[in-house]
Amino acid sequence: MRITQTRHFRGRFTLPGDKSLSHRLAILGALAHGESRLSNFSTADDCGATLRCLEALGVEARHQDHSVVVVGRGPESLRASAAPLDAANSGSTLRMLAGVVAARPFRTVLTGDASLRRRPVERVAEPLRTMGARLTSSDGRPPLVIEGGPLKAMTWAMTTPSAQVKSAVLLAALQAEGRTTVVEPAATRDHTERLLPAFGVPVEVKGAAVSVQGGATLQPVAFDVPGDVSSAAFLVVAGLIVPDAFIHIENVLLNPRRTAFLDVLRRMGAHIEMGIRTRDPEPVGWIEARSSRLEGAEVGADEVPALIDEVPVLAVAAALGHGELVVRGAAELRVKESDRIATLAEGLRRMGGAVDEHPDGLTVHGRAKLTGASVRSHGDHRIAMALAIAGLAADGETEIEDAGCIAVSFPELPSLLDRGRQAER
Ligand code: S3P
Repeated sequence: MRITQTRHFRGRFTLPGDKSLSHRLAILGALAHGESRLSNFSTADDCGATLRCLEALGVEARHQDHSVVVVGRGPESLRASAAPLDAANSGSTLRMLAGVVAARPFRTVLTGDASLRRRPVERVAEPLRTMGARLTSSDGRPPLVIEGGPLKAMTWAMTTPSAQVKSAVLLAALQAEGRTTVVEPAATRDHTERLLPAFGVPVEVKGAAVSVQGGATLQPVAFDVPGDVSSAAFLVVAGLIVPDAFIHIENVLLNPRRTAFLDVLRRMGAHIEMGIRTRDPEPVGWIEARSSRLEGAEVGADEVPALIDEVPVLAVAAALGHGELVVRGAAELRVKESDRIATLAEGLRRMGGAVDEHPDGLTVHGRAKLTGASVRSHGDHRIAMALAIAGLAADGETEIEDAGCIAVSFPELPSLLDRGRQAER
């Protein structure tokens, strides 16, 4: 992918459905009894992987226009897959489905691409073992072999903040005997807790503890998935760093456990406005951003889970600003689709940025300018997209190697960037 510098970036955007919500809706729809219609379902390859894995377990899923119809026949209807389930690049698919199949009386092998096979899975295997399933990882990594069976409820104090692990335990808990409680060390995205009541399952949230009762019957839903807020982050930063820029994004997810990047950008001096139009079960509304002079900010462990996927694009904003962005308490970045601390530092440095790496984060020294260069995505969609945004403001031309991975979460980004820069001035 080649990007040249632009002076203008404008437009009104609506985005395909949020990836985190789409994974959960597909899985809960498969566990329900009846047809769930999920409109504006995510177009991300990751969510395609979830649908294919569900199909391999015997679930019917039909694409109709921009909707996906999932035909749920209850957890008991799931069947063993002869072949390993391939989660491709998607950690959410692998970890959440581990929670689903841990309760089923058959063997499942969960695996993925080379990147996913390097990522940790014991964090999900351990709690599911405690509930009574047998799981074997390969030295802590996929393939994950699961011998499922009847599960017992439990109380589980998580050590790593992870919404994927919390969700896996809750999905197992739905099929367990008794009441399960998960306690999180820091607030992570709460989509599973918010969606379960829409499927007719009560959830109790008390501080950091989330509890569900096993044995509930899920009702199907009709759900219009709001636009992906993590994808929106790339357009928002484009709307800040290009000299003549204004963007408006309509119908986007605004869950506060996903929007901390907007708070940080505002602390950096960004002109961002937003408004909520509906709140239940998820806050949804609009965001506007315009060209801004950016300063620095500090981000610590408490805030990190609510912006973990947005660190790459925040670092780009900071590199084009005039202050220092310091991110700490974010060691999880090292075990994402790539080691995002290292791959981000490499990409920004190649463009003339000044970045210090820390074991648990990074410091970006704003230099107000970047220079086009040949940079590598390392097969990581968010690194490719962050560097593409940097390319809009960098002198000359930026070439991103292996940018096809953008389709993992936001296949429309390249064409939307073209649209934004060509919009009438
Ligand atoms: C996600 C949770 C986060 C996030 C990932 C999606 C989810 O991962 O980075 O992109 O949908 O639950 P962890 O649960 O590993 O923190």
